[in-house]
Amino acid sequence: MSAIALITGAASGIGAAVARRLAAGGARCVLVDVDAGNLERVAKETGSAWLAGDVADPETSRLAVALAVDRYGRLDLVHLNAGISGSMGLDDFDPVRYQRLVEINVDGVVYGLTAAVPELRRDGGAIVVTSSLAGLVAYDGDPFYTMTKHAVIGLVRAFAGPLAADGVRIAAVCPGFTDTPLIGAAKETFSGAGFPLLTADAVAAAVESAFYSEDEPGAVLVVQPGRPPVPYRFAGVPGPAGGQRPPDVRR
Ligand SMILES: NC(=O)c1ccc[n+]([C@@H]2O[C@H](COP(=O)([O-])OP(=O)(O)OC[C@H]3O[C@@H](n4cnc5c(N)ncnc54)[C@H](O)[C@@H]3O)[C@@H](O)[C@H]2O)c1
Repeated sequence: MSAIALITGAASGIGAAVARRLAAGGARCVLVDVDAGNLERVAKETGSAWLAGDVADPETSRLAVALAVDRYGRLDLVHLNAGISGSMGLDDFDPVRYQRLVEINVDGVVYGLTAAVPELRRDGGAIVVTSSLAGLVAYDGDPFYTMTKHAVIGLVRAFAGPLAADGVRIAAVCPGFTDTPLIGAAKETFSGAGFPLLTADAVAAAVESAFYSEDEPGAVLVVQPGRPPVPYRFAGVPGPAGGQRPPDVRR
């Protein structure tokens, strides 16, 4: 039975590479992106359904899940990948651009997760979130982007246990710099410095492996050029002496 996949940010770069890779493996895909022109092109190339929309609007994710179910009968794999760079610091801080960064890179992942989970719980499935190496290390070249990518790592890890209990795997990929339009003109600087870039397809291969991996729930895969993806090992954070787990205080 072929997998049914939903991919956000699928008109370009890593998302388009995931669409190509999954479709080549027999998956049926629903592609989502705000860039309707390129989205339609990738959808036609991969034989996918598509929905032009903004992931910052929760309705986009709701409609995309509904499209998967209407068209293909169910949903198995979800790649929450749409994202933008921050490209600003303290001296050129702009609250409107900041809000847009957070609503795409963080809210877009939250809305994708909340829309997809009820469907994935039916027969089990997997979610992979595209974070970044900037989700694990302090990248001072783009501090607000760094903040958003750390945020989604926390989200993935906090939901990993509860979702696993419902038969839904969630993981994150943390690519280093990747040769896509997101890095823009910096590509020349990287090549001038002899700095190796990942290809979008190398990241897509890591995303595909994360969907099916037997790693522990909430695995965070670091993807770097010339190496196989490696799960990041979070160091132990000290709890209270005695080692108690905090009680659930939500109710
Ligand atoms: N390129 C890198 O160096 C790199 C490294 C680590 C992580 N990432 C992450 O990988 C993901 C994919 O980026 P990419 O490198 O393929 O860049 P990209 O610019 O090629 O692709 C991003 C896609 O997201 C879409 N998008 C942007 N805002 C959207 C919105 N509001 N709603 C729907 N779609 C939207 C864009 O139209 C684009 O098609 C991003 O989350 C990015 O942060 C990229």
